Amino acid sequence: MCGIVGYIGKNDSKEILLKGLEKLEYRGYDSAGIAVMNENGVHVFKEKGRIADLRTIVDKSVMATTGIGHTRWATHGVPSKVNAHPHQSTSGRFTLVHNGVIENYDLLKREYLNDVTFVSETDTEVIIQLIEKFVNNGESVLDAFRNTLKLLVGSYAIALLDNQDQGTIYVAKNKSPLLVGVGSDFNVVASDAMAMLQVTDRYIELMDKEIVIVTQEKVTIQNLNGETIDRAPYTAELDASDIEKGTYPHYMLKEIDEQPLVMRKIIQTYQNDQGELTIEPEIIKAMNESDRIYIIAAGTSYHAGLVGKQLIEKIAQIPVEVHVASEFSYNMPLLSKNPLFIFISQSGETADSRSVLVQVKELGYKALTITNVPGSTLSREADFTLLLHAGPEIAVASTKAYTAQIAVMSILAEVTAKSCNIPVEFDLIHELGIIANAIEALCDSKEIIEQISKEFLSVTRNCFFIGRAVDYYVGLEGALKLKEISYIQAEGFAGGELKHGTIALIEEGTPVIALATQESVNLSIRGNVKEVVARGANPCIISMKGLEMDEDSFVIPEVHELLTPLISVIPLQLIAYYAALHRGCDVDKPRNLAKSVTVE
Ligand code: M6R
Repeated sequence: MCGIVGYIGKNDSKEILLKGLEKLEYRGYDSAGIAVMNENGVHVFKEKGRIADLRTIVDKSVMATTGIGHTRWATHGVPSKVNAHPHQSTSGRFTLVHNGVIENYDLLKREYLNDVTFVSETDTEVIIQLIEKFVNNGESVLDAFRNTLKLLVGSYAIALLDNQDQGTIYVAKNKSPLLVGVGSDFNVVASDAMAMLQVTDRYIELMDKEIVIVTQEKVTIQNLNGETIDRAPYTAELDASDIEKGTYPHYMLKEIDEQPLVMRKIIQTYQNDQGELTIEPEIIKAMNESDRIYIIAAGTSYHAGLVGKQLIEKIAQIPVEVHVASEFSYNMPLLSKNPLFIFISQSGETADSRSVLVQVKELGYKALTITNVPGSTLSREADFTLLLHAGPEIAVASTKAYTAQIAVMSILAEVTAKSCNIPVEFDLIHELGIIANAIEALCDSKEIIEQISKEFLSVTRNCFFIGRAVDYYVGLEGALKLKEISYIQAEGFAGGELKHGTIALIEEGTPVIALATQESVNLSIRGNVKEVVARGANPCIISMKGLEMDEDSFVIPEVHELLTPLISVIPLQLIAYYAALHRGCDVDKPRNLAKSVTVE
């Protein structure tokens, strides 16, 4: 979702900003722009579409060592050049980029800005016009900025330029992510460290409702009362090569292929010198003290949470509920006496999950975040964090984060069980090792899976995924992967639920992808396949070795039955990838989607 970059230093800022925006492309956007400032004033370039389109309109002859940039994912107002950021105040003195949603923008317009003509449909424009209004009323720029922020309800990450002060970028954030990066004769602003890794790996975290005055030499953080806050930078442990595609045509394919490596990294990282899996004692204590665990997540992370429920209940024997964050936030269920909240989020920035985290912390409950991004908002604000160690996930469609989330939850379940002498009848390290090898074998079967994808999905407009028990949860994820990148309408269903309505949608040739990895329901899911075949469906059965039958389209290697989601999802990820590829879709940047969903 929207991305922000800023640069203030000695070098020309245009290319640094454009490169930074390219690194933020993965977050999802539909227009982009930059504003650079020199002795002749502020020069704004913005365009609907891709950064490549923006590049064509940037005037190369303009040299400026201060600038800000933005990728916009439309919320208020259609994707267009006018609605693209940066936005400017009526006089042109102030220029601003904003990520987030100003919920009370309409009210602010009516109360303070009746005399102002707005040029865009955005909520953002109200911020820049308020700042100008307050400055026109005699306030200093800093006071006007601060007083404007005090009026805003909602989320924001902001970078602001004043054409009467070439030496400063004003920055602020609330609920939306923003970092300030420090260099030796320059400083930068970025929605995430990846964007500005090209110039620095040293970053300062910002907290909500802080204002930062960024100059070439100095970074001054203040709270809304104007008090200065000292905060040391940290080094972002990111390898520039982690965020490159290398020889892969798409990040998604690269990230699918990285999954065996990620499994091995997780085993290695969560193992102690004695070769046992280990997790911080405080986390295990919190698990053991809880009478019920509430997993909160969205999208793919929610699907991983469903698998996590099975793992925690079956291995650690603690009851678990899994909730969609955006629902929980507005409709909290009756909670148990001693709940523990687990937030699962690849990005650690999902606004819906964060909103629940804020609520449960206010209620005094403990929270654990399982995330791929150290220092992310959900990680900082929870009591505990478990990291996925999956490396940056750039493709909008989440793949390696899903399997990493499940692997980390299996370790959490195992260590918790062992801590209170609940017998664990398998060696998890050994089983995860088998999983890593099995994923490798599946990634080597791309040609067969590409063929399956062609056979079942090349002409269809819809597709159903069915499964029972944990296969149902994996089917939900398979359907999400397929719909988000290929735009084929895909839905996942519990095998037994089909005949309660959905079966009405089965027509001649409708593809139905069925998972059969669980011995206890192998025959019943096959019965459900027969029901849809009798109504014309084209069935694609993906089974596990040992349970396979003649009619199956693909057989995955045998692994421990509690861990099958870690491998049954691989063919589904690849089927979605090839379906999108053959339909000519933009695999890594599907339409309308954002990688990091930072608005509620
Ligand atoms: O960063 P998060 O894991 O919190 O993101 C949650 C969802 O937005 C995300 O999983 C989304 O569903 C993916 N695009 C799915 O591939």
